[in-house]
Amino acid sequence: MTNKVTKAIFPVAGLGTRFLPATKSIPKEIMTLVDRPLIQYAIDEARAAGIEEFIFVTSRGKGSLEDYFDRAPTLEEDLKAKNKDKLLDVLNGTNMESGAIAYIRQHQALGLGHAIWCARRLIGDEPFAVILTDDLIASETPCLQQMVEAYEQTGGSMVAAMEVPADKVSAYGVLDVESEDGRILKVKGMVEKPAAGTEPSNLAVIGRYILTPDVLRNLENFKKGAGGEIQLTDAIADEIAQGRDVYGFCFEGERFDCGSKAGYLQATVSFGLEREELRDELMAHLEQIVAMKRAAE
Ligand code: G1P
Repeated sequence: MTNKVTKAIFPVAGLGTRFLPATKSIPKEIMTLVDRPLIQYAIDEARAAGIEEFIFVTSRGKGSLEDYFDRAPTLEEDLKAKNKDKLLDVLNGTNMESGAIAYIRQHQALGLGHAIWCARRLIGDEPFAVILTDDLIASETPCLQQMVEAYEQTGGSMVAAMEVPADKVSAYGVLDVESEDGRILKVKGMVEKPAAGTEPSNLAVIGRYILTPDVLRNLENFKKGAGGEIQLTDAIADEIAQGRDVYGFCFEGERFDCGSKAGYLQATVSFGLEREELRDELMAHLEQIVAMKRAAE
């Protein structure tokens, strides 16, 4: 079995109902952060980590995601004819090598674990990454790259981890930590969306994973967990029960929950302020509206 992580699964079958009506006709993953769809950030992060094969687990109504990664020949010709080289570079940056992307349908919404299981034949007997596009992480070294580097030392399955406020913990997969060594946590248990008051810690699983193929075998049991869904967290927890090492990784970076409206707006402002061409105008506007709102209160 190779230890190199070259495949990543992007579960994108969710309906994105929290963003209705926007998501009535566009997939959530195409929603824009400044000028790039959310999915582009995830792809760029995966590429930086050495991923070569990109597996999308989709559902009905996600066709525009496939189109997004297709070449746009008319647009390319038009930009070429007008010598718009910079825009052409931007456009070319989204091109994917033929054969590098695969789309698998999840026919029933049975949970995140089930979505990952749907991609099992494309993974085979290799470790693989999972990226949840809702979790956007701004960091100097892309989060998945940090994890791949840590995984080269540890082996075993690894999940991104972060401390979250006490009143939010039960919305996540939560780690029960045995020991820690710098950013690497040895995990002795994991529980998906624990009932308030029963959380083993305030360390939440964030949407970046490096998993061994054993997790796929555990998913075959179709065990229903929190919310009646087949949970990825449970299949990773089963690995611990089976005597395999599982790790949490406390990444460097700021995480935005783009699955919530507040998180998505915060990400938009933060990523906007990072852009040189937007910073001054945006900052001035923010200062002005905050002052006005304060004065009106
Ligand atoms: C999923 C996972 C959960 C994890 C979270 C991170 O939950 O099931 O373990 O903590 O992503 O964002 P969801 O947000 O889909 O409810």
